[in-house]
Amino acid sequence: MSKALEGVKILDMTHVQSGPTCTQLLAWFGADVIKVERPGVGDATRGQLQDIPNVDSLYFTMLNHNKRGMTLNTKLDSGKEIFEKLIRHCDVLVENFAPGAMDRMGFSWERIHELNPRMIYASIKGFGPGKYEDCKVYENVAQCTGGSASTTGMIGEVPLVTGAQIGDSGTGLHLALGIVTALFHRTHSGEGQRVECAMQDGVLNLCRVKLRDQQRLAHGPLTEYPQYPNGEFGEATPRAGNASGGGQPGWIVKCKGWETDPDAYIYVIAQAAAFAGLAKEIGHADWLEDPEWNTPKARLPKLETMFAEIEKWTMTKNKFEVMDILNPLNVPCGPILSMKELAEEPSLRKTGTIVEVDHPERGTYLSVGNPIKLSASPSDVTRSPLLGEHTDEVLRELGLDVGAIAAVREAGAV
Ligand SMILES: CC(C)(COP(=O)(O)OP(=O)(O)OC[C@H]1O[C@@H](n2cnc3c(N)ncnc32)[C@H](O)[C@@H]1OP(=O)(O)O)[C@@H](O)C(=O)NCCC(=O)NCCS
Repeated sequence: MSKALEGVKILDMTHVQSGPTCTQLLAWFGADVIKVERPGVGDATRGQLQDIPNVDSLYFTMLNHNKRGMTLNTKLDSGKEIFEKLIRHCDVLVENFAPGAMDRMGFSWERIHELNPRMIYASIKGFGPGKYEDCKVYENVAQCTGGSASTTGMIGEVPLVTGAQIGDSGTGLHLALGIVTALFHRTHSGEGQRVECAMQDGVLNLCRVKLRDQQRLAHGPLTEYPQYPNGEFGEATPRAGNASGGGQPGWIVKCKGWETDPDAYIYVIAQAAAFAGLAKEIGHADWLEDPEWNTPKARLPKLETMFAEIEKWTMTKNKFEVMDILNPLNVPCGPILSMKELAEEPSLRKTGTIVEVDHPERGTYLSVGNPIKLSASPSDVTRSPLLGEHTDEVLRELGLDVGAIAAVREAGAV
């Protein structure tokens, strides 16, 4: 079975999280990803949050599967020569250096396009052109500047960042789509192009519904927000706690064991279509006859009371029992699953969304595999490269003989 991106060569100059998640996806689809790192140093994440001393961290290994790795100092003349060969050899260059770093190395888009007109040059930066374009940006900065933090958190409390890496991994996903789109375009145009994703833009794209609400505010209060009708709205889309945001009342309620288990909770959506079943199940058949309760409009000002009543019932069951009872009643709900529970979930193991990977220095570890499933191009997850593991192999593919390889080594370029 051939892989969807077989034959596509990626010159991977990415580091930390955002860029590596993008090239990892492309590698899972079968692209030959050559990760280039500074000799002796490598991607900083190799050494960050190390759980085992002097062994590539999980931070690194979980973001760099299925890639080959070489070292190259692109600031030395002999390194630049090899880098030029790599640019001619590959289809896509991906980087997420600080703004201007590629230009400072001597590789502007114009230069890259001149060296290989078919090359696609893809970048992640924190911000697009404008006031902040020169800033270095990490995950939480993007969450805060992209509209996520201002709309996440409890009402009247501090803005919150989310655990989902929407700035880094989210922008990596956006960039991967840009790259395959540019590759598709190249099949008929014959030309490469520049692909750019700013983390602020990526986060804002994921917060699209909150910009929707910003404009709806001009026409009156947001009736699906918990602030309505008892609270106040300001000028901007507010935080909405755990409200579902889609117009159906939803909230996180406690389940049995919540006193000791921080994840003994479940999300319940009390949508109108399934309300009768939910009301009966929690012992409130009376609501169905009562005009104070039996329409969505009547319930709206009393959602807090309604969820408190639902919670009295959910607290008598564990979160999985609640799920098993409510699902057949068509009440949408989702237990709050901990990372421990997800790691142990058999169905995720079966689909390859959670995989066990073997690494020569750290042994076996768990990773998230490819969440995107292609029927004709399944992903096998293979371990990340050691620093410089494939340097000689790649140099030989670029046409360097033993003497030439020794010379670049001697010069410190690899
Ligand atoms: C993530 C980030 C903040 C890290 O900043 P940093 O650790 O200072 O790293 P930089 O990207 O600035 O790179 C440091 C230097 O190493 C150099 N370098 C990197 N790889 C090299 C190589 N193989 N050979 C020679 N030099 C190399 C760069 O050219 C740069 O040099 P310069 O400052 O002289 O231009 C920054 O890269 C950034 O803002 N990236 C864009 C946004 C992004 O992706 N953020 C999310 C990361 S998860």
